[in-house]
Amino acid sequence: IPPGEVSQVDGIVLEKNICNSWDKIWNFEAKPDDLLIASYPKAGTTWTQEIVDLIQNNGDIEKSKRAPIHLRQPFLEWVRTTNSGIDQANAMPSPRTLKTHLPVQLLPPSFWEKNCKIIYVARNVKDNMVSYYYFQKMNKGLPDPGSWDEYFETFLSGKVVWGSWFDHVKGWWKKKESHPILYLFYEEMMKDPKREIRKVMEFLGKNLKEEVLDKIVYNTSFDVMKRNPMTNYINDVKMNHRLSPFMRKGVTGDWKNHFTEAQNKQLNENYEKNMADTSLSFCMEL
Ligand code: A3P
Repeated sequence: IPPGEVSQVDGIVLEKNICNSWDKIWNFEAKPDDLLIASYPKAGTTWTQEIVDLIQNNGDIEKSKRAPIHLRQPFLEWVRTTNSGIDQANAMPSPRTLKTHLPVQLLPPSFWEKNCKIIYVARNVKDNMVSYYYFQKMNKGLPDPGSWDEYFETFLSGKVVWGSWFDHVKGWWKKKESHPILYLFYEEMMKDPKREIRKVMEFLGKNLKEEVLDKIVYNTSFDVMKRNPMTNYINDVKMNHRLSPFMRKGVTGDWKNHFTEAQNKQLNENYEKNMADTSLSFCMEL
């Protein structure tokens, strides 16, 4: 399958590879001590993953540097001809930490049956859209986004890979009522990383000293993760970092450098409409 080809599962656009392996993904058997990190793409997944890995390793960065992040924490629905996230996960000793971008309704049911702990991270729609645009440009595994103006429309239509941002963040928010989900926000992690890292630590049932937490804050800062070959995807053959680095800017408010006034108005209207039926809200003015 040529890179960038997509198809659909239950109306959600996904990489064709993923759709072709859908039965295998859907029937994945989670274990009760699995931890799942879930997100819409570009919400701060890698950041959250590294925080979790460092907490699990009591802040020991050398241990976290044992392998690239996608090998330490398999990407559940990732599929290639010779390997897949499911194969990686099945070959891994417990306790396992896994990553997914699936919308809540497409998560393999065994995660609910086994009552696995889940950490979800969300990012405000405007910055999320900008980050995703650059990611689709640099990642050969995803469709070309076209121009910014074209992408703006595609993104709002929800016909992007992994589906509508609105449905994704709302769906996982709702699930929090009936399931152990820690719901994090990129903007809060930027504002007070130590407070948010402590939340993750408590959710994982760990108790680390202040100086260990400070070390984790340092080692998961944007600049340090950008330099760390185990977190910056520098060796991923699908990614062309010359077009746009994976660790691109790491800020909030970059949307202001991309949105026209008309686009901002359109998005705000869209946001009001789509978020009317949820208690979830985001900070976009920073
Ligand atoms: P930008 O493109 O806005 O820079 P994901 O891991 O979900 O793919 O998200 C990637 C986004 O998170 C990118 O956003 C990336 O730069 C940002 N990011 C990664 N590590 C970060 C960190 N330690 N601090 C802040 N932002 C980070």
